Amino acid sequence: MRTQVGIIGSGPSGLLLARLLHLQGIDTVILESRSREYVQGRIRAGVIEQGMADLLREAKVGERMDREGLIHEGINIAFANRLERIDFPSHTDGKVVMVYGQTEITHDLMKAHIDEAGGIVHYEAPAVRVEDYDTGSPRIIYEQNGQRKELICDFVAGCDGFHGVARQSVPSDKISVFARNYPFGWLGILSDVPPVREELVYVSHECGFALCSMRSHIRSRYYVQCDLDDRVENWTDDAFWDELRRRLPPHVAETVTTGPRLEMSIAPLHSFVAEPMRFGRLFLAGDAGHIVPPTGAKGLNLAASDIYYLCRALLAYYKDKRTDLLDRYSETALRRVWKAIRFSWWYTSLLHKLDDDPMTHRLQIAELDYLTGSVAGRTTLAENYVGLPYETFE
Ligand code: APR
Ligand code: PHB
Repeated sequence: MRTQVGIIGSGPSGLLLARLLHLQGIDTVILESRSREYVQGRIRAGVIEQGMADLLREAKVGERMDREGLIHEGINIAFANRLERIDFPSHTDGKVVMVYGQTEITHDLMKAHIDEAGGIVHYEAPAVRVEDYDTGSPRIIYEQNGQRKELICDFVAGCDGFHGVARQSVPSDKISVFARNYPFGWLGILSDVPPVREELVYVSHECGFALCSMRSHIRSRYYVQCDLDDRVENWTDDAFWDELRRRLPPHVAETVTTGPRLEMSIAPLHSFVAEPMRFGRLFLAGDAGHIVPPTGAKGLNLAASDIYYLCRALLAYYKDKRTDLLDRYSETALRRVWKAIRFSWWYTSLLHKLDDDPMTHRLQIAELDYLTGSVAGRTTLAENYVGLPYETFE
C-alpha cells in the first residue's frame, strides 16, 4: 500500500492532520492500534484555546463546537478561603477559551473525515515500527488481521501518543529526552450534575489541589489531588464529594450539587519532551513528542499547534515544492511546546500540595495573592491560559 502522508495514531493529532490535508487534496492513511469505539470512548480534557478552535473551523469541523461549546471569558482561582476571578478578554486583547470535550472533537473529526469524506483509517492495525525515514520513501510496518504489512509514504506523521512506536523507531542516541514525574495524581469524577460555577475553579488548599470543570451545563468534571498509590476502589462517591467540598471555600462548597459517578479514574502527572520532533521524513506530533500535566489543559492544545505547523509545512512542500517549513518544523513547534511545558509545570507547582512543610503552602498563597492582585500577574496567567499565539509564515 502507498500514500502521500502515512499517519500513525487516530487520536486528535492524527485525525486533525488527515482532515486538514484531505481538504487540500493530499492523501493520507491512518493506522490505529485500537478500535474506533475505544478511541471514541476515551475521556480527556475539554478546554480549547482560540488557536485550536480556529483550526477546527479551518478543518470544517467547528460547527457543533460553535453551537454546543461554552465560551469562557475567565477562570476562578480559590485559595485561603477566597475566590478570585481572572478575566481573559481584558488581559489578552479579547481572547477567550471554548469548553468542549475532546471526546466530542474526536467524534466530529471521525464523522467528517471517515464517514463523510471517506478518509482511510485502519483500526486494530498497530504500527510496529517506521523504517527508512531518512530516505525519500519511508515505510510503516504494521499488523492487520494477524498479517504483517507495509505502508510506503512520502512522509510519516507519528501521532501515536506517548507510548507509540514512531519515537521508538529512532535510535536513542538521536533523541534527547527531558522528563519530570510529579509525586501525586488526579482523582477525577464525571457526573451529570450542574457545575458549581459557570467558569472553572482551580483550587489551592492545604489538603491538596482541586479543580471544578465541566462538559456542559448539566455535566461536571471534578478532580482532587491524590497520592500516586491511591486507587479508585478506595473512593466512594460520597468520599469524593466530601473531599472536594473540604478543599473549596465554604461559600462555594455549600453550592456543589453532588450525584452518582458516570466515571471515576486516577491520572498520574508528567512533563515530557523529546527533541527534535523531526527525523528525516518522520515527524512527531502531539503526545508522541511531549506530555504536560493537565493543570492548564495544554495537552490537546499543543497537539493542535503541532498539527498547524506540520500541516502548513507539508502544504508548502506539495503546493510550492518548498522544504524550508519542513526543515523548521521541529524548532518552530518546540518553541511553543516548551512555553506550554513551562506554564503547565509552573501552574502545577503553584496549586498542588508539594510537601508537608506549612511554609510551602504559605509561599503559594503569597504568590497567588500577588498574581491575582496585580495586572501583570493576571495578564501572565490569562495570556498563557488562552494560549500563546501560533507563528505565521509567508
Ligand atoms: N500503532 C497505531 N496506533 C497507535 C500505536 C501504534 N503502535 N500506538 C498508539 N497508537 C494510537 C493510540 O491508540 C491513540 O489512539 O495513537 C493514538 C494517540 O492518540 P492520543 O494519545 O490521544 O494522542 P494525540 O492524538 O497526540 O492527542 C494529544 O489528546 O490524548 C490526549 O492527553 C492527550 O490531550 C492530549 C491530546
Ligand atoms: C477537564 O475539564 O477535564 C479539565 C479542565 C481544565 C484542566 C484540566 C482538565 O486544566
